[in-house]
Amino acid sequence: CGIVGYIGHREAYPIVIKGLKRLEYRGYDSAGVMIYDETIKVCKTKGKVVQLEELAQKEIDTKGTIGIGHTRWATHGVPNDVNSHPHLSNSGELAIVHNGIIENYAPLKEELIKRGYVFHSDTDTEVLVNLIEEVQKKEKIKLGKAVQLALNQVVGAYAIAVFDSKKPDEIIAARLGSPLAIGVGEGEYFIASDASPFIEYTSNAVYLEDGEMANINLNKSIKIRKIKDDSLVDPYIQELQMNLEQIEKGGFDHFMLKEIFEQPNVIKDTYRGRLHADKGIIQMSGVEDHLEKFLNADRIIIVACGTSWHAGLVAEYIIEEFARVSVEVEYASEFRYRNPIIKSTDVVIAISQSGETADTMAAIKLAKEQGAFVFGVCNVVGSSISRESHAGAYTHAGPEIGVASTKAFTTQITVLTMLALRLAKAKGTLSHSDFHRYLLELELIPEKVKEALGTIDRAKEIAAAFKDAPNCLYLGRGYNFPVALEGALKLKEISYIHAEGYPAAEMKHGPIALIDEQMPVVVIAPKQGHYDKIVSNIQEIKSRSGKIIAVVTKGDTQVRELADYVIEIPETSDALSPLITTIPLQLLSYYIAVYRDCNVDQPRNLAKSVTVE
Ligand code: G6P
Repeated sequence: CGIVGYIGHREAYPIVIKGLKRLEYRGYDSAGVMIYDETIKVCKTKGKVVQLEELAQKEIDTKGTIGIGHTRWATHGVPNDVNSHPHLSNSGELAIVHNGIIENYAPLKEELIKRGYVFHSDTDTEVLVNLIEEVQKKEKIKLGKAVQLALNQVVGAYAIAVFDSKKPDEIIAARLGSPLAIGVGEGEYFIASDASPFIEYTSNAVYLEDGEMANINLNKSIKIRKIKDDSLVDPYIQELQMNLEQIEKGGFDHFMLKEIFEQPNVIKDTYRGRLHADKGIIQMSGVEDHLEKFLNADRIIIVACGTSWHAGLVAEYIIEEFARVSVEVEYASEFRYRNPIIKSTDVVIAISQSGETADTMAAIKLAKEQGAFVFGVCNVVGSSISRESHAGAYTHAGPEIGVASTKAFTTQITVLTMLALRLAKAKGTLSHSDFHRYLLELELIPEKVKEALGTIDRAKEIAAAFKDAPNCLYLGRGYNFPVALEGALKLKEISYIHAEGYPAAEMKHGPIALIDEQMPVVVIAPKQGHYDKIVSNIQEIKSRSGKIIAVVTKGDTQVRELADYVIEIPETSDALSPLITTIPLQLLSYYIAVYRDCNVDQPRNLAKSVTVE
């Protein structure tokens, strides 16, 4: 998940290694370097950069003034030495490091195999470097042109740096959907996923825009062109004024906020290559290969912990509604210890960001022993739960560093919504037109999430007003009941304010006793769904002088009259609304925690990955 490159007059190896360490915050599972000094020397390994260093000292001569390095966060193929980057082409002349996902790697790989190419890893990246080599050979062209032609055949996202030992004064870099910065020094260039690896050498940087590539030649000035049409772009050299820490967090104050703002992109990454709204298709390889299991299932049992459990609750509503199969959602820790009834016709879905949560892992082992089919929804590729599952679908949210889960939650819901739609299509439980409508709507979600992020100032204002509240209640109905639970959990986790999520109608059976003029009540009240019912609930709070913060659909007038604060979000159908209503609640808890001076990214007592039961 990080790229570093150097070409110039200094020793490249120490710069690349130090740079990779700077990028460690991005999360990764393996690391590697290529150094050139008359020959290409590669060293790579599963594990951390320090392990790479130990190995490199033993295995290669690290001398040389050109180098590229990589930290990998697996997307295709488990984390191991072979799948680590850099990857070499079959001739051994080209070396590449790559962040991102090449979606159409399978047909490209098949074609290359037919032409005699041999693959050593399971990665999409090895396909790309060989495609570049094939184009270069066939067209007898220079590296830059070959990279360009190859990238025009590729569908997906990438940031790459490519080196050709036949032309060792040059590195080609390109970007689409994954960041890449070029540091411009005196007779030297740096390439990196962000400026942190080169900030001490130069403060002049060029940030590649999506769809651009750069020829970085030691003897010439840097040339940037559009990958699509070859048109030249004037390099805009920017003077960096950031400190290191700011850069790592992409200019955000905390990882949590950065991750909240990544959601439009990562939701897109999650459905990329799976959702084809124009063709009316949803394809998830883990589901296609085992469709019968899903179709023959009497019921689906979802097991998870924490935020992932909340995503499971949302999925329960969606899967039952769309695919008409009964769904039970269980805390993994309860499920495993209560002698549950599991049948071989059950499908068990395990949801886990880390893929390492001990209780969830134990729950799926138990389910497997009793003959159930286990489907994993994990974010970390090659994690224990993903390996233990019979099949699964990754969420592609990228590494989540903030302990409080945000982008993992919305991408889990995205995967599970696609699953529900896929099953509905196979079972015919949704009408043709509804199915198409949902596909189109799902494609619009990233834009709407972006719009919902625009409520940031409102969130700040409300946070300032309620930062000292000792308690907070979150209410929602239907699809937004689990969102209420998640909203309350976020607030508890990072601000240490006691909060409870409740189904709005249940309020009468207990929590209503807590309501007085001190009590903030966050009500999720979008136009779709049970609007009239929730308006009545709001009235019940109002008549007891509770403070009402309502999340409403843009243009709402009725709730506005009753609520103390409204947060407006874009309209979407009821079933997809959790993806939008969650956003302002994340922002609200974030700012409350910030205003209370809490350690947002590492709240007390909490762990990102709970590997003890
Ligand atoms: C911990 C984390 C939560 C997470 C839960 C489940 O409690 O702090 O953010 O939701 O574990 O983790 P998983 O990795 O299985 O989703």
